[in-house]
Amino acid sequence: MSFFRTHHCNELGFEQAGLNVKLCGWVNSSRNLGGLIFLDLRDREGITQLFIDPVKQPELAASAKEIREEWVIAASGTVRPRPENMRNASRKTGAIEVELSALEVLNRANPMPYHLEDPAASEDLRLKYRYLDMRRSNVLGNLRLRHRIGKIMRDVFDENGFVEVETPILSKSTPEGARDYLVPSRVHPGSFYALPQAPQQYKQLLMVGGIERYFQIARCFRDEDLRADRQPEFTQVDLEMSFVDQDDIIFLVEKLLTAVMKDVHGIELATPFPRLTWKEAMERYGSDKPDLRFELELRDLCSVFSQSEFKAFSMALGEGGVVKGINACGMAEKCSRKILDGLSDTAKLFGAKGLVWLKVEEGGNLTGPAAKFISDAEKTNLLGALSASAGDLLLLVADSWRVASEVLGRIRLEIAELAGLNSGKEFKFLWVIEFPLLDWDAEAKRFVAVHHPFTSPLDDDLDKLRSDPGNVRAKAYDVVLNGVELGGGSIRIHRPELQALMFKTLGISDEEAKLRFGHILDAFSFGAPPHGGLAIGFDRLVMLLTGAKSIRDVIAFPKTAKATCLMTDSPSDVDPEQLQELSIAIQTGKKTE
Ligand code: AMO
Repeated sequence: MSFFRTHHCNELGFEQAGLNVKLCGWVNSSRNLGGLIFLDLRDREGITQLFIDPVKQPELAASAKEIREEWVIAASGTVRPRPENMRNASRKTGAIEVELSALEVLNRANPMPYHLEDPAASEDLRLKYRYLDMRRSNVLGNLRLRHRIGKIMRDVFDENGFVEVETPILSKSTPEGARDYLVPSRVHPGSFYALPQAPQQYKQLLMVGGIERYFQIARCFRDEDLRADRQPEFTQVDLEMSFVDQDDIIFLVEKLLTAVMKDVHGIELATPFPRLTWKEAMERYGSDKPDLRFELELRDLCSVFSQSEFKAFSMALGEGGVVKGINACGMAEKCSRKILDGLSDTAKLFGAKGLVWLKVEEGGNLTGPAAKFISDAEKTNLLGALSASAGDLLLLVADSWRVASEVLGRIRLEIAELAGLNSGKEFKFLWVIEFPLLDWDAEAKRFVAVHHPFTSPLDDDLDKLRSDPGNVRAKAYDVVLNGVELGGGSIRIHRPELQALMFKTLGISDEEAKLRFGHILDAFSFGAPPHGGLAIGFDRLVMLLTGAKSIRDVIAFPKTAKATCLMTDSPSDVDPEQLQELSIAIQTGKKTE
């Protein structure tokens, strides 16, 4: 038994009536009702009401009157049922209270900088006082669930022969596509370590080292623009396996996720998860991470408008583009001009020249600025192609296949938001497979790796690596949950000849390859096994399972959208001497006029 407590504050009920107990924690609130003193004592697990009768315990009552919110106290007394009309059914311990016989103030607290349960308290204020925010918001619950999810995953890894290995934080730049955080070396002036964007190269080196099955709950660092599901410093559940193909990795990841879902939500997920090729996902949902909680599928309308006299359509089709559309069923009434203008702005923001909207009236008549350009035959075919009827809103984009698909993918999400289709509590997992291997960088006029340069092409597309690199598919796969990219991975290239061809296609010279990846190419020359892996965004997984809106809510000490920590006030200036030691001559962050 602890010196401080016999029970936690959620554990007492009628069964303990008459029992002497010791509790400790923070004072959640105090009330003085006609001389009777009530304190709500809170600890990690819950709240218990403490009661002091000033007639029986005058000294105790006098000291209790001094106590303020968030003071830390230890209390002992006897559990007793509350009078029937004083019970609080919404609280686990609401049927009892503890009549105190002793009370000790363990620590006082200054007045709180804001009321800890004030829903109007700004996020900045709560982040500045994150340790206070944790006391009463659901952050603590989220952190406990995070712990639980990590434990379940560790168990599954262990049962499946994985070895947990830590890899360096002071490391060399990895090609994950974001900017690196750099750490200057004091010992080697002018040289820098990079914080790992992911343990990608180390885990591949572990495969060369014969570990065969590796995992790590790994810290990653990426200097990129932040949003609700991105932090500069985040955690991956990272894994790599030897002598496997894509299906082995998919099978293992489904095992991890089904175990987590069963434990956390009691849900038996059906496996295998649905799989969509990247092409299919883009074609039907306009996204490589489609939210499958709702349909709203994109439809190809090229045949409907093949003879169109509407310039926007005929031009796009003439240039080898497409006309695509979605039917926002029953949304014609709900979408005011203002909303439609907003949707058009989205379309333009994501690269389209515009958005055509048409409202379907009784009898199949169409209204909207572009309706006059659509012939009767086209109207009939359009209604058929989109299974549209009166009250529906039709949204069309004519552009290149990629732009039309991506723009309608965004519009699809906005419509789902407006129609409240994306707030369902279901969990729709899927795999997106066969990503393109390469992307054309129009500015640099060369191909870049979509995933990273060690990702293997599909065997069927190997020939195209020389003849048609833009159309080579990769052995790369993402696991997606409710429209969020939860994890991604690939089968790696393990043969040096293919790696050399890949570098050549990427326009990376032998010298550059040696400089950037010499250590891994060296390692691969000593007998690398076939291998592949994946990394799950741990913060994103916890966010989705807790229903949090941002990964900040599931990280103990997150950064703001501007990558600052308001609590410790970092990043911050450092002493000039420190910079001198590091041979850094530049000014610190502050601008000089
Ligand atoms: P990738 O870059 O796709 O793959 O990252 C894997 C997963 O990590 C999560 N993630 C992030 N989470 C929060 N904040 C960020 N800034 C952030 N960036 C990524 C996402 C993503 O799906 N080394 C490869 C994996 C592999 O090939 O094995 C990698 O890092 O959920």
